[in-house]
Amino acid sequence: MATQAVAPSRTRFGATERKDDWWRAPLITVIALTAFGIYSIVILIMGSHFLYTKGGAYYLSPFYSPDIRSWGVHITVYGFFVAWVPAGFRITCYYYRKAYWRSFFLSPPACAVEGPRGRRYQGERKFPFILLNAHRFFLYLSLVVVAFLWYDAGHAFVFRDPDGSHTFGVGVGSLLMLLNVILLSGFTFGCNSLRHLVGGRLDCFTCSGTAKARHRTWLGVNVLNRFHMQWAWVSLCSVALTDLYIRLASVGVFTDPRIIH
Ligand code: FES
Repeated sequence: MATQAVAPSRTRFGATERKDDWWRAPLITVIALTAFGIYSIVILIMGSHFLYTKGGAYYLSPFYSPDIRSWGVHITVYGFFVAWVPAGFRITCYYYRKAYWRSFFLSPPACAVEGPRGRRYQGERKFPFILLNAHRFFLYLSLVVVAFLWYDAGHAFVFRDPDGSHTFGVGVGSLLMLLNVILLSGFTFGCNSLRHLVGGRLDCFTCSGTAKARHRTWLGVNVLNRFHMQWAWVSLCSVALTDLYIRLASVGVFTDPRIIH
C-alpha cells in the first residue's frame, strides 16, 4: 500500500523540519539571563559588600563602577545609579536582542521553527521596543564606564600600606578585575554601533589619511565583532564572577591571596 508523506503543520508552535536540538540555545539563554538578572537586582538592592579593602586592597565590584561616593556623591540607590548604563547597553545590544526575542518572546524560537500563533516579530517600531534603537547612545556612555573599569583594574594592583604609602602587588582579585575589563572591552569594542561609528558614512576608504585610519580601525572592530556573541557571554559571566569574588572576600568568607607583594 502506498504511503503518503505528511508535511508538518506550519501553524503549530514548534513545528519544524529541523532534526537538531534547536531548543537548547533558547533554553540556556532564558536560564542564564534570568539568573544574571535576578543576581544583579538582588546585589544592587543590597547595596553593600561591593568593595574589598582588606590588606590595603581596593577591589571595586564592576556593578558599582565608577565609585561616585569617592566624588562626594552619596545616594541610597548608588548601585542602580551607575548600573543602568551597562544594563541598557546589553539590553539594547543587537546580539542580545536576537537572543531574547527568540528565547523569551519565542518569535520565532529559532531559525525555521514556528513560533506561537499570532506572535510574530514586527520590528522595533513601537513603544516600548522602539527604545532599543537607543543602542548607540548607550555605547557612548559605556565607553566611559569601560574607561573607569580600566582605572579600577589598575587600582587593584596598587595596595595601601599601613603607613599610608602605596606599593605594587598582585592578588587574585587584581587578576580577576583585569581579566574582567579585558573581556568587557572585547564586548564593547566589537559593538555593531561602533563599527558604524568608525567606518560608516565613508564612500572611500583610501581617499585621505583619515579615511585610511578609519578603515584600519573598522577592520580592527570587525575582528572583535566576529565573535560578538562569545564576548557577550564570557563578559557577562566575568562581571558576575568578579562581583561574587569581591563580595565573598569582603564578607570574610576568604582572604584574597596576594601572589606578589
Ligand atoms: Fe552588541 Fe553593540 S551590538 S554591544
